[in-house]
Amino acid sequence: MIFATSIVSYILLQNFNGVNGDPQVPCFFIFGDSLADNGNNNPLPTLAKANYRPYGIDFPGGTPTGRFSNGRTSVDILGQLLGFEDFIPPFATERGDVILKGVNYASGAAGIRDESGQQLGARISLDGQLNNHHVTILRINIILRNTVSAQDHLKKCLYYVGIGSNDYLNNYFVPRLYPTSRIYTPEQYAGILIKQYQDQILRLYNYGARKVALIGLGQIGCIPYAISSIGTNNGSLCVDKVNQAVQLFNQKLVSLVDQLNSNFSDAKFIYVNSFGIGSGDPTSVGFTVLNASCCPSNNIGQCIPFGTPCEKRELYVFWDSIHPTEAVNVFTATRSYTAFLPSDTYPIDINQLAQLKL
Ligand SMILES: *[C@@H]1O[C@H](CO)[C@@H](O)[C@H](O)[C@H]1NC(C)=O
Ligand SMILES: *[C@@H]1O[C@H](CO)[C@@H](O)[C@H](O)[C@H]1NC(C)=O
Ligand SMILES: *[C@@H]1O[C@H](CO)[C@@H](O)[C@H](O)[C@H]1NC(C)=O
Repeated sequence: MIFATSIVSYILLQNFNGVNGDPQVPCFFIFGDSLADNGNNNPLPTLAKANYRPYGIDFPGGTPTGRFSNGRTSVDILGQLLGFEDFIPPFATERGDVILKGVNYASGAAGIRDESGQQLGARISLDGQLNNHHVTILRINIILRNTVSAQDHLKKCLYYVGIGSNDYLNNYFVPRLYPTSRIYTPEQYAGILIKQYQDQILRLYNYGARKVALIGLGQIGCIPYAISSIGTNNGSLCVDKVNQAVQLFNQKLVSLVDQLNSNFSDAKFIYVNSFGIGSGDPTSVGFTVLNASCCPSNNIGQCIPFGTPCEKRELYVFWDSIHPTEAVNVFTATRSYTAFLPSDTYPIDINQLAQLKL
């Protein structure tokens, strides 16, 4: 479910580039949900936070940071592949000149729609993350002393936007709390999500973004939490209706990328095919535990505080019942950065996007 075949040696041969020189882009801005959150939810009143053990057990320093994994997230690894020496800091705590190198706005439980994830507590939806980006831009205007140099800086940055899973798992497929599945068919829902997403991406463009990676949704019907909370009819290992719904979103996202690229010749937008990267046989790349979480998980799919996790984390696909292990994040980030199959990214990969001269 999560992997294509025969790429172990490929991953092992990948080296982190440029760590001794300048990164490939001067700055890296990240928008997203719990797959990318690196501490933005820590100060918020929400169940969707991961700033307790055993989260972070394999992170440098071995302490929880708010990342929803045992170690680095895929954006941490992408930052390293791009040549950044330090992890991109969370908006929640970052101040000073380091914001010139980028900021991470991602928030666990957040969605394209403001209400998605609200049953878990506070979160910063994509609109809120864009508001925070506006704050960063005002700060950059001050640091660089004028808006022209600020815009010149911002257009060279790489922008990563990975959001939408919570609009399904913490909205559409929770009919007890959200009416969307009674109002919209999956096709209509994908359409209204993409319409709203389009406006949000245009806002990002208007703030000066010119190199934008839009991350498609993965096989969220296959996560243990989806299987336990939504259930499968026939004992299959994935909730097919969830995977079918997110594929409708992904198809429309590819069309949006085409439209954006034809409407804005001074910018480049790419699609990362997380669903495709996550298909294939995980055992072929060394994972042996496919449908159980490494840490004992609670009813919202997160690790039980201070629970004892599995020892061989590199063999597990899932860290908690929702989020992948660091080993999976390395796999995903590597293939997003340098496409292994032509279908992994469209029309170019993140490495090519970073190096593009616009
Ligand atoms: C379960 O049912 C779906 C259709 O609802 C089907 O696509 C899938 O192949 C079935 N899985 C198994 C294991 O029978
Ligand atoms: C692209 O331009 C066309 C024609 O003006 C417009 O209908 C469409 O909404 C635009 N799409 C985006 C994503 O900007
Ligand atoms: C994992 O999948 C296997 C079938 O491949 C099944 O027998 C087992 O019960 C599943 N375990 C969990 C925790 O769902």
